[in-house]
Amino acid sequence: MVTLRPLALEDASALTRVYSGASIRHTTGQPLTLDQAHDKIRTALARAAETPRAQWSWAILNEDDLIGLIALRRRTPTMGTISYILREDTWGNGYATHAANHVVSAAFTTTGLTRLEAMHHPDNPASGRVLAKAGFTRVGTSDRHTDDGTIAYELYAVETTT
Ligand SMILES: CC(C)(COP(=O)(O)OP(=O)(O)OC[C@H]1O[C@@H](n2cnc3c(N)ncnc32)[C@H](O)[C@@H]1OP(=O)(O)O)[C@@H](O)C(=O)NCCC(=O)NCCS
Repeated sequence: MVTLRPLALEDASALTRVYSGASIRHTTGQPLTLDQAHDKIRTALARAAETPRAQWSWAILNEDDLIGLIALRRRTPTMGTISYILREDTWGNGYATHAANHVVSAAFTTTGLTRLEAMHHPDNPASGRVLAKAGFTRVGTSDRHTDDGTIAYELYAVETTT
C-alpha cells in the first residue's frame, strides 16, 4: 500500500537511490550525493516550519520502502505547483498516481489553494498520464531555459470545484 509521510533526515540514503538512473533523465539530470540529500531534507524541514507555509514535501512509501518524493509549493496565496519523482524500479504500478491524488486532495482541503499547476518534460509522457489521472488538464506549454536550449514543457492545471 502507498502512503505519504513527512521527510526525515534518516531518509537521505534512500533519497539518493530515488534520484538516479532514468528518474533524473528528464528532471535534474544529476544524481544526488548523500550530502545533497541531507541538504534537501534539511531545507524541506525548515520550509515545513515556516508561517505561512509555502512548501510541503512528503516521502512516498510502498509498505516500508521509500520509493519517491512528492512536493507541493505555494506560488501565490491561492496557486500551487506539484512535482514528484519515483525510483525507476517502482514505475508502472500506479504509485505516482496514488501519491498525486493524495496531494491534490490535501492541497484543496487544508491549504487554501484553489488552483494547482504542474509541468513535465515533453519526452516524459508518463508524467502527463499521472497528471491526467489525478484530475489535471493540459493547458499549454511553458518554456524552460536549460543547458540544451529552450524546451517547451507541457503545462497542466486543476482547480477545485468546491
Ligand atoms: C513520471 C513518474 C513519476 C511515473 O511514476 P509511475 O509510478 O510509474 O506512474 P503511474 O504508474 O501512476 O502512471 C504511469 C502512467 O503513464 C503511462 N506511461 C508509462 N510510460 C509511458 C510512455 N512512455 N508513454 C505514455 N504513457 C506512459 C502508464 O501506462 C500509466 O498510465 P495508465 O495507468 O493510463 O496506463 C516516474 O516515471 C518518474 O519518477 N519519472 C522521473 C521524474 C519525473 O519526470 N517527474 C515528473 C516531473 S514533475
